[in-house]
Formats: sequence, structure tokens, C-alpha cells
Amino acid sequence: MKKIFDVIQERRSIRKYEDKEVPVEKIKRVLHAANWAPSNGNSQPWNFIVLKGEPRKQICAVFSEWAQDYIPKAPYIPAEKRGPMLEYAKDFGGAPVHIVVTYETDEDLIKTEEALMAASAAIQNLCLAAYEEGLGTVWIAGEVAYKEATKEIIKLPKNQKIAGIIPIGYPAMSPPVPERQDPDLTQKVTWLGF
Ligand SMILES: Cc1cc2nc3c(=O)[nH]c(=O)nc-3n(C[C@H](O)[C@H](O)[C@H](O)COP(=O)(O)O)c2cc1C
Repeated sequence: MKKIFDVIQERRSIRKYEDKEVPVEKIKRVLHAANWAPSNGNSQPWNFIVLKGEPRKQICAVFSEWAQDYIPKAPYIPAEKRGPMLEYAKDFGGAPVHIVVTYETDEDLIKTEEALMAASAAIQNLCLAAYEEGLGTVWIAGEVAYKEATKEIIKLPKNQKIAGIIPIGYPAMSPPVPERQDPDLTQKVTWLGF
């Protein structure tokens, strides 16, 4: 078994997947890891919706439709990257399963923000556990997570929002390691009282 520091450092966002089923037992293990995340008042305000087949295809269609319009117009995306990005946007690189992680909202804004923090911790656990299981993931947020069409597909209750859509499957790529800003942590860390 890998050491936690190695898992944290080696996990990468995967945007191309093998056309291969993911055993349900593996999915259950990563869900258990997610469910062990810390949470505000131990409220565990997350829920997981696991999609394959038709509902997965429908989520891909919502993302793809938005991306086909957005990517060609986005000024910050270099021209040479547009083609590969549009290809990925068709079906999140072919991931056979998606796990949607939701969080519960509340009239109290602080409680809602804390629920999103907790759900985010659950997503990080999920992605790290998936890596340990030999699986790739990528955390998808942005437009697709807000669209009504997405909420309808997953039958999202009115008091919940989406923290992330996580395509999961066997990786078919080995992405370059993105550089860390301030790798020696001379600027991002302030030590007080040392
Ligand atoms: C909150 C959040 C939202 C993200 N949204 C997207 C997304 O919509 N599409 C995508 O391809 N990657 C998304 N990512 C993945 C990041 O692009 C990725 O983590 C970052 O580039 C660093 O690469 P790494 O995960 O391989 O270390 C998101 C990550 C986070 C934490």
C-alpha cells in the first residue's frame, strides 16, 4: 500500500479513460473513503449519486452542449488546445461512471458554506482512494454543476446543491505533473509566533 504523502502528490486529474467497466466493489470502497471525511458538527451533509448507462450519457450531453459553444470562444484557451478539449468534453474522456457529490443547503449561510467544505473534503478523499484503487478521477464543477438540466437528470432535491461531478474509470493517460506555485512555501505560508 502506498504512503498517504505519495498518494496525495501522485494523484492527477484524468481526462481520458479506458473503455473498461469499473467493478462495483471498487466504487463502494471509494464511496466509503468519501463518507469518512470530516464535517461540520459531524453532520455528514453529503450524498452520492452514482451514474452509468443512460443517465451518465445525459450528463455528458449537458456538458458537451455547453462546451461546444464555450470552448471555441474562450479567449484564454490556446487555439491548439481547443480540439483536444472539445474531444474530452464529449464524454469526460470516456469515463464509464460518474459520481455526483451533493451537499445540503440551509437558511444559515455559514452552515451551507460548511456543508460545501465538508462535501469538498469528501471529494478529495474519494479522488485519493480512487487513485489507490488504480482508478482515475477528475473533479468537475462550473456550469454543468449548476444547470437545471443536470439537476433534473439526477433528481436533485431542492435543498441540495452539487459540489462536484466526478468521472471515474481506468486512466488511459498519464498527465504531466502541474507545477506548484511557491513550491518551497516561502510566500504562501505565514508563521506567526515562532
Ligand atoms: C473545485 C474544482 C473544480 C474543478 N473543475 C474542473 C472542471 O470543471 N473541469 C476540469 O477538467 N477540471 C476541473 N478541476 C480539476 C483541476 O483542473 C485540476 O485539479 C488542476 O488543474 C490541477 O491538476 P491535478 O488535479 O492533476 O493536480 C477542478 C478542480 C477543483 C478542485
